[in-house]
Amino acid sequence: TRPFTVLAFESSADDTCVAVVNSSRQILSNIVVKQHNLHEGFGGIHPSVAIEAHQRNLPGAVRQALDGARIDVNNVDGIAFTRGPGIGGCLSVSSNAAKSLAAALNKPLVGVHHMQAHALTPLLTTPIPNLPRFPFLTLLISGGHTLLLLATSHTEFRILATTADASIGRAFDKAARLLGLSWGKRGPGAALEDFCREDDVLDPADLPQIPSFPVPMPGRLAFSFACLHSSVERYIASSSPDISRAHKVAIAREFQDAAARQLCAKLVLGLEKSALRGIKIQDVVVSGGVASNFYIRTRLRECLDKYSPDEPIALLFPPLELCTDNAAMIAWASMHRFLTGDHDDPTIDLRAKWSI
Ligand code: KG4
Ligand code: ZN
Repeated sequence: TRPFTVLAFESSADDTCVAVVNSSRQILSNIVVKQHNLHEGFGGIHPSVAIEAHQRNLPGAVRQALDGARIDVNNVDGIAFTRGPGIGGCLSVSSNAAKSLAAALNKPLVGVHHMQAHALTPLLTTPIPNLPRFPFLTLLISGGHTLLLLATSHTEFRILATTADASIGRAFDKAARLLGLSWGKRGPGAALEDFCREDDVLDPADLPQIPSFPVPMPGRLAFSFACLHSSVERYIASSSPDISRAHKVAIAREFQDAAARQLCAKLVLGLEKSALRGIKIQDVVVSGGVASNFYIRTRLRECLDKYSPDEPIALLFPPLELCTDNAAMIAWASMHRFLTGDHDDPTIDLRAKWSI
C-alpha cells in the first residue's frame, strides 16, 4: 500500500517550519526559516517580532515544502501542526494555516505536543538496527528547553527533570555575552565552544586557575543554569577590570565543563532512579541546539561508559537539523495518530502551556 503522507507546520518559537514526511520514514522536504538576526538585539525572542516574521515567512515555506517534496497538495493525506507548548501568538500562525488548509482540502488534522515530537525524533532518524528501544531517556538541551524525559511509548512521557530557572542554551548565550564574544555564523553558544578551543593560548601554563563552578542541587533531579550564569558573572566581576584573553578562555572552559558536569550528574541520577524503579534504560537520546556541542557530547559518552561499563548504553544524536526546531518531527509525532484514525476536530484549541 501507498505510504501515508503528512504536511506539517511548526512555529512555536522563532523558527518557521514546514515539512512533508511519509509513514515510510521518508523526509520528503524540511523547510526551516530562522529569525536569529531579528532577535539578536533583544537578547531573546521578541514575541510580536516573531509573530510578524512567521506571518511573512509561512506562505513561502509551504510552497517550498510542497515543491521540494514534488507533491501536489491534493496528494497529502493529513495535516499536522504544533498545538503547544510555545508562544501563543506564534503557535496561532501555524495552527490557523493548518486548520484552514485541512478544512479546504477536507483532510484529517492532528495537533502535536512539541516536546513529544522532539522526544520521538530518533524514531524517525535513527537507522533501523539502532532504533532506541522503549523505555528510553531523552535529554533535550536547547535555548527553549532543558529537560530530561522518560519515553515509555509513543504517547507516554514523563518529565524526570526540568530547569528551575534558565535554559542551558540561554546560559551559553549569556556567558558568551559576558565574555564579549561575537556571535559569528553559528550563534553565541557555538562561539563559546569555539573559543574554548583557542589554539594560541593552549599552553596550560598560560591559563589562570579558575575556581570550579559548582553543580547545583546535587542529588536532586532538577537543573539550574541561572546559577551557572551567575557563577561566571560573579567571577568576572571579582576579577581585575582587564581580563586577558587567556583568562577568558579559562573562564569559558570552566563554564562549559561545569555545564557538562551538570548534565552528566543529572543524567546519571535519572538512570539511577529509573533502575531503582525497575526501569532498564538501554538508550539515551540527546537533542536540541546544545547537543551540537562536541565537548558536551564527549563528556556524556564518558559518563555513560562509567555508569554502565559492562552493558553499554547507546547514546544517540539526531542529525543537527532535526535536533533543533523543525516540522519533520511534528509530522512524525502525528503519524501514529493518523494511522490509527485518531484525528483532532478543527475547533481544537491551542495550548501555550501544556505539560507533557
Ligand atoms: O534548539 P535551538 O537551535 O533553538 C531553540 O532553543 O529554539 O537551540 C539554540 C541554543 C542557543 O542558546 C545556542 O546558543 C545553543 O543552542 N547552541 C550551543 C551550540 N550550538 C547552539 N550551545 C553550546 N554549544 C554549541 N555548539
Ligand atoms: Zn523545541
